[in-house]
This record gives sequence, structure tokens and C-alpha cells, in this order.
Amino acid sequence: MNKYFLSLMSILILFQSFKVSDEIFNNKKDQKKGYIILEQEDDDDEVTVADDKSDVKEEKIDFELLFTKASLDGGEKIAKQCVACHSVDNSLKVKVGPPLWGIVNRNAASISDFKYSEALINFKKAWSREELFYFLEKPKDYIKGTKMIYKGLKKPSDRADLISYLESLK
Ligand code: HEC
Repeated sequence: MNKYFLSLMSILILFQSFKVSDEIFNNKKDQKKGYIILEQEDDDDEVTVADDKSDVKEEKIDFELLFTKASLDGGEKIAKQCVACHSVDNSLKVKVGPPLWGIVNRNAASISDFKYSEALINFKKAWSREELFYFLEKPKDYIKGTKMIYKGLKKPSDRADLISYLESLK
């Protein structure tokens, strides 16, 4: 009787361990599947990144849109960051930087009584909306060697607001 019971038990244990190992095996399989799914999600992300890049190419369209939405009042507030170094009225007073009156579409480095850096003299472009937009994002990166020490404005909408305000200075 005892023998029978023991062998029954061992069969049960054996059976149980098969089940357990089966479960482990299945789990592993599931994990593998899960991994593959994750990888696919990564691929999807890359596709999204590629989409973002194509958005950058279409920035010109967004650029126009940005300016139709721009706020002059918002720009005036942001311009407080500039007035420490720039005058904004028609006195055309030179401060640490050249005056910003009439800056939009003015030729770069064209204020005769301001001593510009070599970098800005060599820039040789007019300050269109677009040039200002990229310069003000990070001046030091856009014109390497400029002596304008200003960290820049990250948000495109802030720059559009500011440039709209600068356009009103005429
Ligand atoms: C810490 C002082 C400082 C601040 C703040 C500053 N600027 Fe300037 N800015 C300068 C100096 C100095 C120059 C001349 C740069 C050179 O010669 O390389 C300059 C040049 C410029 C020019 C080119 C002008 C020209 O005649 O070609 C523009 C445009 C300009 N700044 C806009 C701005 C705006 C807009 C802001 C505010 C968001 C700002 N700056 C903030 C110091 C400053």
C-alpha cells in the first residue's frame, strides 16, 4: 500500500514538473514574442522620426502660418530681453548693441557708428523675417563669432511674436 502510494506520488510529481517546465517554456516563448513586438514598436518610432524630418522640410509653410498667428503684444514682452543692449525707438541710439529701429529688412551691420564684429560684417545679408527667425534661435550658432551674447529663443512661436514686434518698429 505504501509502495503504491509512493509511486503514485512520484508520478504526480513528475507530471507536475512537466507542466511547470512546459509553463516556463511557454513563458519564454511569450517573452520572445513580446520582444519581437517591442522591436516592431521601435521601428514604428523610427518611421515617426522620419515623418518629423519631412516636417522640417515643410517648415516654410509652417513659417507663414506661424506669422499669421503671431502676437505683437507677446513680442513686445519678449523684446524686454533685448532692450538691455538695444534701443528700440527712433532715436537710433547705439547701446551695447546697434539700434533695432527699422531692423526688419535692414542690411546686416549697416549702422555706421556701431563697431560690429568681423562675423557680422561678413554676414552680408538683409535681416528678413527668415534670417531673424534663425539668428534669434541661437545667435552664436547662426553667426559664429558674433559678439551678441544672448542664449536665444527656442520656441518658434516666441520668435515669430518677437519678429512681428520688430516689424512694427518703423
Ligand atoms: C547682451 C547684449 C545683447 C542682448 C541681450 C541682445 N543683443 Fe542683439 N546684439 C548685441 C550686440 C553686441 C550685437 C552686435 C553683434 C556683432 O557685431 O557681432 C547685436 C546684434 C544684433 C542684431 C544685428 C543688427 C545689425 O545691425 O546687423 C540683431 C538683429 C539683434 N542683435 C537682435 C536682438 C534681439 C531681437 C534681441 C532680443 C531677443 C537681442 N538682439 C538681444 C547685443 C545684444
